[in-house]
Amino acid sequence: MRIISQPADLPVRESASRGLVPTMGYLHEGHLELIRRAAAENEEVAVSIFVNPLQFGPGEDYRTYPRDLERDARLAESAGASWIFHPSPEVMYPPGFATTVHVGGPLTERWEGERRPGHFDGVATVVTKLFNLVRPDRAYFGEKDFQQLQVVRRFTADLNLGVEIVPVPIVREPDGLARSSRNVYLTAEERPRATVLYRALLAVREAARRGASPAEAVEAGEKVLASVPEFVPDYLAVVHPGTLEPLSSWVPGARAIVAGRFPTVRLIDNMEVWDR
Ligand code: PAJ
Repeated sequence: MRIISQPADLPVRESASRGLVPTMGYLHEGHLELIRRAAAENEEVAVSIFVNPLQFGPGEDYRTYPRDLERDARLAESAGASWIFHPSPEVMYPPGFATTVHVGGPLTERWEGERRPGHFDGVATVVTKLFNLVRPDRAYFGEKDFQQLQVVRRFTADLNLGVEIVPVPIVREPDGLARSSRNVYLTAEERPRATVLYRALLAVREAARRGASPAEAVEAGEKVLASVPEFVPDYLAVVHPGTLEPLSSWVPGARAIVAGRFPTVRLIDNMEVWDR
C-alpha cells in the first residue's frame, strides 16, 4: 500500500473518478465500510489518515488518540483503498498557518459544537484542505458523526468545493454499540454498559412508533440512560435531520442524537426515529 506523506507526492489524477475517505486512523469496520463503498463507486480511492490537532480541545485526547499506521494500511488495502495520504501535523499546519474555515449559525452552536468549542472549525479546516489536496469527485462520511456530516455538507456547498458528499449508515457491534476508534478506552466493566446509548435511541424510536410526541419519546430514552449510573449524559434530543434544531413535532427523517461520558471515554450515537 502506497503511503504518501508530502502534498507534492500526491498522484496526479488519471482515473475516471476519485473517491476520498477522510479518517483519523485506527481503522475499524465503520471506516472500512466507507472505503468499500468508495471502492464500489470510484475507480480510485484515497484514504487520508491524520489525527487533526485543530479539532481537539484542551483537555481532550489528541496525544493519546490510538494510532497504528501499519495495521491501518493493511486494512485499508483489503477494503479497496488505492493509496493512503498520511501527512504530519507540520505539513498540514506549517509555521505561519493562520486560516480557518468557520461554519456559523445554529448548526454548529448546539450539541457537539456547544460541548467542544472550536471542534467543527478544526474539522471544516482540515476537510477543506484535504479536498484541495486530493481533489476528489466524492467524499464519504459516516452518519455516526451526524452533526459533522451536516457541517461538511454546509461548507462544501457554501464554498462551492465541488465534491459530492456521500453519507454512509452507522456500523455497529453485534450488541448495538456504534463502532468507534475510542471504544478501546472502555474498561471491561464499562463495555457491556456502553450499549446504553443504542438502547436509549431504540426507546425513543419505539415511543415514536407508539404515538408519543418528541418530548415524550425523549423522556422514554432518558429513563434508559438513567439505568446506567456511571454514564453521565450530555444530551439526548430529537432533531431535524438537516438543521439539527430540536423538534416539537415529527418530520420525515427526524433523528435522535445522544452523547455522554463514561469515566474513561465520551461517546456519541444517533438514529433515525421517524421514517423518511
Ligand atoms: P474518524 O473519527 O476517524 O472517522 C472517519 C469517518 O468514519 C467519519 O466520516 C466517521 O463518521 C466515520 N465513522 C466512524 N465510525 C463509524 C461507524 N461506526 N459507522 C459508520 N461510519 C463511521 O470523523 C473523523 O475521523 C474526523 O473528524 C475527520 C472527518 C477525518 C476530520 O479530521
